[in-house]
Amino acid sequence: MDIRPLTGGLGAEIIGADIRAEDQFPAIMQAFADHSVIVLRDQKVAPDDHLSFARRFGPINVNRFFQAVPGHPEIAMVLKEKDQTEAVGEGWHTDHSYDVEPAMGSILHALEMPPFGGDTLFVSMGAAYEALSPKMRAFLDGLSAVHSSRHVFGSDIKDSEAAQSGRLGNAQAATQYAIHPVVISHPLSGRRGLYVNPVFTTHIQGLAPAESESILAMLYEHCKQPEFQCRVRWRVGDVTMWDNRATWHKAINDYHGHRRLMHRVTVEGVSLS
Ligand code: SIN
Repeated sequence: MDIRPLTGGLGAEIIGADIRAEDQFPAIMQAFADHSVIVLRDQKVAPDDHLSFARRFGPINVNRFFQAVPGHPEIAMVLKEKDQTEAVGEGWHTDHSYDVEPAMGSILHALEMPPFGGDTLFVSMGAAYEALSPKMRAFLDGLSAVHSSRHVFGSDIKDSEAAQSGRLGNAQAATQYAIHPVVISHPLSGRRGLYVNPVFTTHIQGLAPAESESILAMLYEHCKQPEFQCRVRWRVGDVTMWDNRATWHKAINDYHGHRRLMHRVTVEGVSLS
């Protein structure tokens, strides 16, 4: 298999791999550890192959809020129909950061792509952290932040297009609330990285609301710099896996009038404290 970095700091595309082949898993796992985002081009996988690949990394974390693929409750459907305007995952986020043990990784399989656009952007949270000044890193190092699912998946969104169309549901289950360090040591590599995100993080503990808001706003602007990013240009059949403890991601909603369908499987993680 041929592993080609996408940028200087994050992501790689892998040509010539087959996620169904057990003997290729160690090399794929190593690429995932090295690059945090891996794009496995041109896969021929059925839903059960997608699940078997995910289980090699760990147990499946079943998403509570996304519509599931019929017959496959462990696979979430990430869908935008051609007459819809909102895409799932448009804001910069880290999947499941509202859980006490947040998901380690997510695996997205492209089934239908628009004729243009529909890319996904990723940020390296390790690179973003390392680019902060030593004094800012020292300030952030002792802090913790609160993450919640309520304001994103709870009853507040009942009038949104995603809830009205049934793409998101189960609002009564949006009770998750977790506290994580603002800076984590990656559970596998030990690399230090920021672990706050604009969608699920509500505030930094122990700061006044205005202070927390300002610090988070500064960090979010800092993290969005293109130097920390990579962009995945999807083709039908691609499977992309990312590490939620090392990255943010964002779906680009620039293909109105066209359908985009992905299947997502999420893998369980561990406590980050
Ligand atoms: C997601 O946020 O999991 C979906 C990303 C995408 O559809 O590109």
